[in-house]
Amino acid sequence: MRQSILAILMVAGLLLASQVYADPIVIKFSHVVAENTPKGQMANRFKALIAERLGDKVLVEVYPNSQLFGDNKVLEAMLLNDVQMAAPSLSKFKRYTKKLQLFDLPFLFNDIDAVDRFQQSAQGKTLLHAVEKKGLIGLGYLHNGMKQLSASKPLRVPADAKGLKFRIMASDVLAAQFEALGATPLKKPFSEVFTLLQTKAIDGQENTWSNIYSKKFYEVQPYITESNHGVLDYMVVTSKEFWMGLPEELRSEIKQALDESIAFGNQVALEKAVSDKQAIITSKRSEIIELTPEERAQWVAAMKPVWKQFEKQIGPSLIEAAYNANP
Ligand code: SIN
Repeated sequence: MRQSILAILMVAGLLLASQVYADPIVIKFSHVVAENTPKGQMANRFKALIAERLGDKVLVEVYPNSQLFGDNKVLEAMLLNDVQMAAPSLSKFKRYTKKLQLFDLPFLFNDIDAVDRFQQSAQGKTLLHAVEKKGLIGLGYLHNGMKQLSASKPLRVPADAKGLKFRIMASDVLAAQFEALGATPLKKPFSEVFTLLQTKAIDGQENTWSNIYSKKFYEVQPYITESNHGVLDYMVVTSKEFWMGLPEELRSEIKQALDESIAFGNQVALEKAVSDKQAIITSKRSEIIELTPEERAQWVAAMKPVWKQFEKQIGPSLIEAAYNANP
């Protein structure tokens, strides 16, 4: 009798100890941008909210500035469970779905409000599932902003870009967009852009005010054309295996914290589109070129034919729905 009571006590003790000392679930969140950006701030807010609400059960580790993985490797690593969350640009999902190429079509959205309207529509939300067949789950969209063109020479009209080399994200639509200008696109990781510009291995690139400022591209690019010709937004992703393996209650608390962090990141995106542009103006390192309506019309005429090339892969009704999100 005494022996069985002792055995029960030992088992109970072991169970208690395993609960007290159980390792928290670790969510490694990898991204390529600086911390003072919409994505950097969103990831840090997510880490803080999880620490506050689920500190003993879940630990978020944030790896900014391509410290853990570059965007060319992160999704493969996610499928191997080497990283659990990331928010690559929508331009970087080509190997997982062709549908998200929609967001790269030049001059599709007038501004970030239109992008937001489309993303929150039924069709926009459906696109979050476009990568599921490949084992990934889209948990939400996050804004960065509209893209601008930077270069070593002033770009006022499309002919100015002819013959220049531009770094692009790994997107065939973006490649076609620069080819339509008679320029040479080069698909390169974000972590290499500053050096490529500084060493003049390339002549220009396209990016948001936030990325141009936080990665100091403006210090090595004397001209920035305020073209607003495309959007750079993100999809926060995880792997199906990791996400569905979480206890249901925990999953919904993590999702709630993530949604709140995304809302915060979107607010940061709106602010940074204004403040980072202003910081670049104040620095006087780069001249900002504003286009006249006639000049802008030339860029639209040169780039928009790209839509036709990708209409089949993306789907004409999706393109129409996105376009209709403009006021
Ligand atoms: C990012 O904002 O995550 C990187 C964008 C880029 O590769 O240009």
